[in-house]
Amino acid sequence: MDTIERVEHTLARVAGPTFDPQVYAETGFFILRQAIGKDVVGRWQQAWQDFHAWQLGQGRNVNRANPVALTEELPEVLGKMYREPVFIDTVKQIFGENVALFNHRFVIKDEHSSGKVFLHQDSCYHLGNLNKCSLFVPLSIANEDNGGMTFYAGSHKMGYLGDAGEINPEAFDIRWPKVTPELHPGDFIVMNSSLWHESGPNKNGVHRILADMIMQPADDPTGKELLAGEWKTDFFYSPLNCARYFSNSRVLKIIRYETELGLRAAPTKTD
Ligand SMILES: [Fe+2]
Repeated sequence: MDTIERVEHTLARVAGPTFDPQVYAETGFFILRQAIGKDVVGRWQQAWQDFHAWQLGQGRNVNRANPVALTEELPEVLGKMYREPVFIDTVKQIFGENVALFNHRFVIKDEHSSGKVFLHQDSCYHLGNLNKCSLFVPLSIANEDNGGMTFYAGSHKMGYLGDAGEINPEAFDIRWPKVTPELHPGDFIVMNSSLWHESGPNKNGVHRILADMIMQPADDPTGKELLAGEWKTDFFYSPLNCARYFSNSRVLKIIRYETELGLRAAPTKTD
């Protein structure tokens, strides 16, 4: 079997009630079905509804460069949902005993962000080591009709592609199988941060509400919070505003050129 045949063969086992690290290694993602307790998910959904009614009802502060990423501060119960044991137990099967959080946020498709998100990999937007994964946790249904995510199974094996932006899959000889799973509250997805993914427009108007928690081994100096075991680094730095770490760079050049031309910054990042 060649690589594509092996990935296609493995896709038959890409979803289930328990995580399979070997399937994940082959496909670059895994779908856990009804793996979060109903009471826990119900609490998160209620917190989201309250948050939406009180904080977002009058509109939200939309980041034009990345409209799907929520910028408002989350209520406590949603802001700490990455501490749920089922997530940490899952990620330990990838990274070992010592695990840390890189970032936690919500990526939503509502009336402010109903468009498609272009094909990309997340690794090029991260700092620190490339060994990271996202856990996507739906608090609503997420499918083809409301902007659910599509994954290019096995594409993480390509590694980092050398730049950040929209990937052209036609530029490669190899064709990775595309999968657009339907997700329900209680499910969650684990995704290698190098895996290619995209999402279509929200066609039916049903809000797509996803938490995106990025986790990594605890030896990475960009860790935000220890989730399991112990820290394996004694130094840290912030992944925020990384342009300041360079005296000259591609991003700084773009900012300089756009300033000289009197332009506003163009969209650079999506999810
Ligand atoms: Fe992404």
